[in-house]
Amino acid sequence: MLQPTILAIESSCDDTSAAIIRGGKILANVVASQAVHEQYGGVVPELASRAHQQNIIPVVAQAFHTANIAKSELNAVAFTRGPGLLGALLVGTSFAKAFAMGLNVPLIEVNHMQAHILAHFIDEPKPAFPFLCLTVSGGHTQLVVVRDHLDMEIIGQTTDDAVGEAFDKSAKLLGLPYPGGPALDKLAATGDPNKFPFPIVNLPGNDFSFSGIKTAILYFLKDQTKQNPDFITQNLADLCASIQNALIKTLFKKLIPAAEALHIKDIAIAGGVSANSGLRKALQEEGEKRGWNVFIPAFQYCTDNAGMIAMAAHFKYLKGEFSDQYASPEPRLKF
Ligand code: KG4
Ligand code: ZN
Repeated sequence: MLQPTILAIESSCDDTSAAIIRGGKILANVVASQAVHEQYGGVVPELASRAHQQNIIPVVAQAFHTANIAKSELNAVAFTRGPGLLGALLVGTSFAKAFAMGLNVPLIEVNHMQAHILAHFIDEPKPAFPFLCLTVSGGHTQLVVVRDHLDMEIIGQTTDDAVGEAFDKSAKLLGLPYPGGPALDKLAATGDPNKFPFPIVNLPGNDFSFSGIKTAILYFLKDQTKQNPDFITQNLADLCASIQNALIKTLFKKLIPAAEALHIKDIAIAGGVSANSGLRKALQEEGEKRGWNVFIPAFQYCTDNAGMIAMAAHFKYLKGEFSDQYASPEPRLKF
């Protein structure tokens, strides 16, 4: 079966998603985001699990409706095994196992972070191997050498906060609503990125650190608002632009030397933060300067979605990499 039809489920954090892929082409990619977390200013794991439980049946039903296929046409069922929140992963994993058992088709487990990278194989143009991917999400910041669809090596990662976390926490300090990253991005568009010089951390080697920037922002804002209580509102766009600029520069401090050392010219970004307009623009500009072929995912495949899980499952199906009914979620899954 070289044109397998696969149902994929993603439930690692606060998006419940189902996708159907046939022969490597996405037929449906349905995402239900969870508004329940807004009032808490961040994802509440227990509430995420409950919302997945409520959303999963309608989301899967919508995926079948959009793809216009019958359940009997499925050749496999895929699910995100990790990394992610245990309770959230359990909902998707249990659903996928039951569905696969009911239809008597194989199960495929997918690593969420690998899937973010494999989202680049959904649409054209596709990167050529080996390529370098900067995977930037709410929980991870990784520099990955991708040698083949399922052959990847992490050569650098964050030693503390993820860059998405830095975006979200900075946004929270500025009083922006959850989720902070996209809100900060929007405001940054009209601000001056060089107004406030926040630190650009450069650890030795390929690893990143973002906790220092967050602390510097915290103390800077405390200090300024002591002198002028309206400092944040009066400088909001410039603060957003300056924070975004420091975070992006911190990423490029590692991306550029790694690409040069490896002599790799195909450079990709992936994960939720790859939706950031400043990062997308900076990569385009850096790429033109350095003769890179840059790969930036379509917005719908940047943040969490089951389309990318389906794409990863397609490659695993072709290689015969299946799981069994004893598969269980792994919140800290590595690759
Ligand atoms: O990949 P993702 O959807 O979930 C995880 O696997 O973590 O990434 C979510 C992260 C959040 O931190 C969110 O604020 C950030 O991606 N994000 C952004 C933007 N869109 C999403 N950060 C900055 N600018 C954006 N436009
Ligand atoms: Zn993700």
